[in-house]
Amino acid sequence: SAADPGALRTPIVAVLGHVDHGKTTLLDRIRGSAVQEGEAGAITQHIGATAVPLETISEMAGALVDPTDFDLPGLLFIDTPGHHSFSTLRSRGGALADIAVLVVDVNDGFQPQTEEAISILKRTGTPFVVAANKIDTTPGWNPQEGEPIQKSLEKQSERATSRLNENLYELIGDLSSAGFSADFYWRVQDFQSNIGVVPVSAMTMEGIPDLLTVLMGLSQRYMKEEMSIDVSGPGVGTVLEVKDERGFGATLDVVLYDGVVREGDTIVVGGRDDPIVTEVRALLQPRPNAEIRTEKRFERVDEVRAAAGVKIAAPDLDEAMSGAPVRVVRGDDVDAVKEEVRKE
Ligand code: GTP
Ligand code: NA
Ligand code: MG
Repeated sequence: SAADPGALRTPIVAVLGHVDHGKTTLLDRIRGSAVQEGEAGAITQHIGATAVPLETISEMAGALVDPTDFDLPGLLFIDTPGHHSFSTLRSRGGALADIAVLVVDVNDGFQPQTEEAISILKRTGTPFVVAANKIDTTPGWNPQEGEPIQKSLEKQSERATSRLNENLYELIGDLSSAGFSADFYWRVQDFQSNIGVVPVSAMTMEGIPDLLTVLMGLSQRYMKEEMSIDVSGPGVGTVLEVKDERGFGATLDVVLYDGVVREGDTIVVGGRDDPIVTEVRALLQPRPNAEIRTEKRFERVDEVRAAAGVKIAAPDLDEAMSGAPVRVVRGDDVDAVKEEVRKE
């Protein structure tokens, strides 16, 4: 691990899956928050973004992750809604992803939005792992708070283990019918050609060390092979939401997926009619481990480097739209960038 972590692009990890299978709760346990409890009707209705630093990941993963094995600064998690009416948001979240976690309730198995998420991941060619969630609901389960899955399995009765295995084999079968060769993650050698299934509980945090370990390994591989490590170019992102912010008027919550954005930069944003050309007045960054959807205490910064969630304050954003592209103009001709934004 020689590289300066600050110079590396943070991988984007999308969390996808059927409604109520536990995506937000799983993220809450990783980042130490309670976003899910504040959601109206316990339903996620927007795309979220949370930067989880490497230190948090290695703390959560315990002995399974040695931070000195990784060059990555951390992971940017994208939460998506599972309710059927939000398919546009699922596609948008999937399109942002470098890698993904497909969350499946181990008792419910494959459901319509599980299938939908899989077709998004196929279409975008996104490598993913499966979090087989809610293992604590297996009849006779003996919870082992926060333990790696193998340690927990040692403490389970034969009956509980075989009930869980039945569900897990069904899941592996469903993945295979969907065209993926899948197995328990500890038997998978190459996570890019095989899908690793990680049994977890967002309730008891069992298996979360394993899930983070697998994600770090997959990210590291993916980074080396696919990702541009140089993130010094002009920033490129997607608008998650347009929100009024006291003192700033309309602002953009953005996932920056490439390059750098700085205060004072000229940006082009997709608008209701024509692309909007404006100048960045302030960059407001959520704190580490904070969900951009619910963050109240943003930190004002001079520049933001991909990948990151950032609130951009600038004049004339009232006509900006969620889902629209954002591009920094640096050296390029404004009209050429406007044309690119118009085409996206
Ligand atoms: P949407 O975003 O609306 O699609 O839902 P979601 O996938 O984010 O699920 P959410 O986190 O809202 O969890 C749904 C319900 O399942 C909540 O009541 C959680 O407390 C519960 N839940 C989540 N994970 C677990 C788990 O591992 N075990 C148990 N027993 N309950 C869980
Ligand atoms: Na929910
Ligand atoms: Mg949710």
